[in-house]
Amino acid sequence: MVRPRDGAGPLIAVIGGAGTVGSAFAFHWLVSAPAGDVVLVDVNADAVRAQLMDLDHLRGLGAHPDVRIGTRAVLAEADVVVLAASLSAPAGPDRASMVTRNAGLLAGLLPDLRLVRPDALVVVATNPVDAITTLVVSSGSLRADQVLGLSLNDTLRFRAALARHFGVEIGRVDGWNLGQHGGAQVPVYSAVSVDGRSRSIDPGDRPPIDRYLAEWFRSYQGLRPGRSTGWASAAGIQRMIDTWWNRRPAPLPCSRMLAGEHGLTGVALGVPVDLTGERPAVVELPLTGAEEAGLLRAGDAVGRAVRTLQDAVARERDAS
Ligand SMILES: NC(=O)c1ccc[n+]([C@@H]2O[C@H](COP(=O)([O-])OP(=O)(O)OC[C@H]3O[C@@H](n4cnc5c(N)ncnc54)[C@H](O)[C@@H]3O)[C@@H](O)[C@H]2O)c1
Repeated sequence: MVRPRDGAGPLIAVIGGAGTVGSAFAFHWLVSAPAGDVVLVDVNADAVRAQLMDLDHLRGLGAHPDVRIGTRAVLAEADVVVLAASLSAPAGPDRASMVTRNAGLLAGLLPDLRLVRPDALVVVATNPVDAITTLVVSSGSLRADQVLGLSLNDTLRFRAALARHFGVEIGRVDGWNLGQHGGAQVPVYSAVSVDGRSRSIDPGDRPPIDRYLAEWFRSYQGLRPGRSTGWASAAGIQRMIDTWWNRRPAPLPCSRMLAGEHGLTGVALGVPVDLTGERPAVVELPLTGAEEAGLLRAGDAVGRAVRTLQDAVARERDAS
């Protein structure tokens, strides 16, 4: 596949297209992308039909991409597959309880991912995102470099905490929060910049930032929003697809299966990924010893989640 393709956009299949994240992504793509059609796939036929009735009218406001409902057969055609399906929404305050909750969904879905083209991109949003990204790659039909998990929110939260610390707008801050999504996070204090200029943060000033990261999700859930973080997640998925499709140069934080980087193999973790080449590649930031150790801890945590999830998926398969 040649990308970008003469002004044509990608065909994007959204599994879980009626959900908070899937439908918010569809809305965001329709109102912001110049091209590229969206196919919504969801087991809830009424909910997805209702989303389509609403989204359809965006063309009347000048939206260029088209949107329609499809079946999983569209996986064979799609340039991009977004996995945003979930058996339970939104997550409770304890993300650990989410580890096996989508096992039944995965037992049914993983075999269908064999339909996905070798030159397509798969974006995994479904939690636990690092474990599921790992499982999707381990299931054998897709390469590690074509399956990327959504972990941008962790970095956005770090940048928000840094912006508050420096008293500046979040858009002026650069920094990475790597590791396990929502769990064993690794805020990279050694590579923070404001307006492109490197800034150091005294270790004594870090606890409020670390606390903000540790407590963000609990605070959000404590407000009982009745939904997951749909807006930033949708915009994050849009950014990943747009960056990949248009080969934009700035690396993005994505959950990506590692093959020796940072001493880790066989687990997907949030790391900077360069999406410009034929095969999205991990960018290894120079890290401090403590940050490298944090990534190893994150790798252990994801490895445990993968084993638990794998067992649960096997049980679901045996039961069906
Ligand atoms: N990685 C991240 O940063 C991030 C951020 C937000 C949400 N999430 C995760 O994304 C997932 C989706 O969240 P949500 O709030 O949109 O959930 P949701 O409950 O609103 O939507 C899930 C949708 O999936 C559909 N679905 C269930 N099984 C299906 C199947 N087999 N095939 C097709 N569709 C199916 C449901 O009908 C529903 O419409 C969750 O796992 C959530 O935790 C991840």
